[in-house]
Amino acid sequence: MRGKFITFEGPEGCGKSTHSKALAERLRARGIETILTREPGGTPLAEKIRALVREETGDAPVASAETLLFLAARAQNVARAVLPALERGAWVLCDRFADSTFAYQGFGRGFDLAELERLNAFATGGLAPDLTILLDVPPEISRERLGTRQNATGEKADRMENAGRLFHKAVRDGFLALAALPENAGRFAVIDSSGGMDRVSAAIDAAVERLI
Ligand SMILES: Nc1ncnc2c1ncn2[C@@H]1O[C@H](COP(=O)(O)OP(=O)(O)O)[C@@H](O)[C@H]1O
Ligand SMILES: [Mg+2]
Repeated sequence: MRGKFITFEGPEGCGKSTHSKALAERLRARGIETILTREPGGTPLAEKIRALVREETGDAPVASAETLLFLAARAQNVARAVLPALERGAWVLCDRFADSTFAYQGFGRGFDLAELERLNAFATGGLAPDLTILLDVPPEISRERLGTRQNATGEKADRMENAGRLFHKAVRDGFLALAALPENAGRFAVIDSSGGMDRVSAAIDAAVERLI
């Protein structure tokens, strides 16, 4: 049987990396083979594209180039990592996927959503998640968490993180609008991620239980 494909979405600092890693561990503890991947990234080529889109090079990609770089990384990750794992029955958890394109490049940068959907379908071959966990936090909390994480790890803010407040508000509102679309109703679990870790983990488990 084909494995389940679960994506984690939401603004910077909402807890995608933390909670996707924790869910992977819980699923493995139940004996479910689970692959954890991320976007952009997940294969050597796609990780190189990740570095390219995050760098401040003085030659920031124009919005269309940025979109296509993310989609190129997605195409490679889907074909080389995600699909083969799903086909052998493993579950795949992905830290960001197509909804990030719709939220950042659609709602954030203003590209037409229908056009992004066509481009995304070309990149994914039509692969769609069985479940999308949208971790929602207000912008103040995501900024604060990002600051804490950067202080703890010494990492620097990347190009996307440095975009302005209005952009980040548009992205957050965009994710919520995507989750509210009738065609997405069955796929999204919107979880308030401003609560404590345990509450968020319990809400994620409840959403995942529906797939088992
Ligand atoms: N529910 C939560 N409550 C408090 N802190 C959290 C919660 N979820 C994540 N964090 C913290 O917020 C920071 C950002 O989380 P992270 O998983 O890196 O976010 P993302 O991958 O979405 O950018 C990390 O320091 C993480 O430990
Ligand atoms: Mg992360």
